[in-house]
Amino acid sequence: MKIFLDTADLESIKKFNDMGLLDGITTNPSLLYKEGGNPKDAMKEITEIIKGDVSLEVVSTEYSGMMEEGKRLREYGSNVVVKVPMTPDGLKACKSLSSEGIPVNVTLIFSPNQALLAAKSGAKYVSPFIGRLDDIGQDGMHLIKEIKEIFSNYDFGTQILVASIRHPIHVIDAAKIGADVVTLPPAVLDKMMKHPLTKIGLENFLADWEKLKAENPDIKI
Ligand code: G3P
Repeated sequence: MKIFLDTADLESIKKFNDMGLLDGITTNPSLLYKEGGNPKDAMKEITEIIKGDVSLEVVSTEYSGMMEEGKRLREYGSNVVVKVPMTPDGLKACKSLSSEGIPVNVTLIFSPNQALLAAKSGAKYVSPFIGRLDDIGQDGMHLIKEIKEIFSNYDFGTQILVASIRHPIHVIDAAKIGADVVTLPPAVLDKMMKHPLTKIGLENFLADWEKLKAENPDIKI
């Protein structure tokens, strides 16, 4: 399963990329707004730091505007995936951009039928938002199971990119289902690394090493 970071925060991107954890990045206008500054500079820098796919989102709501913006976004780097919303115009733009060799991520997917239609339109990725379904009392992970089953029945090349992830259990469940990608807020990736027994175990090892050193002052690893 690929791991993308769902952020426009350059420090987090560099931090996790240096650990070799990142296969790509997803952004959206809300994430760019959160970081402040000039979004163009941020988008350019992200495409340069990350070798894998970087999803950058259009803000036009009609086809011709999406096409113009999609092509402009693609100028930031050859790894840019154009993110379009799950609307009729978004699907039309998905079809056109994909036909021109520009990969597309269809976002704001909340039903299996929306995922099916986005795949039919040639999307490289579909982005089902599971946390927002959980928020309204629906089972977001059930949507991932349904999309996985549907895509497995046919020859779609479209990848399931699980978005709106809120905690590490979401990641385990998505991996068990066989989702292609999870896109994670930095805080979730931080939590995935930690375990209290790792912390305690390391503290004990270091304390015992200090005892050894007390008996053998010249010792070095
Ligand atoms: O990638 C989509 C994601 O940014 C949405 O997350 O937490 O706003 O539902 P959230």
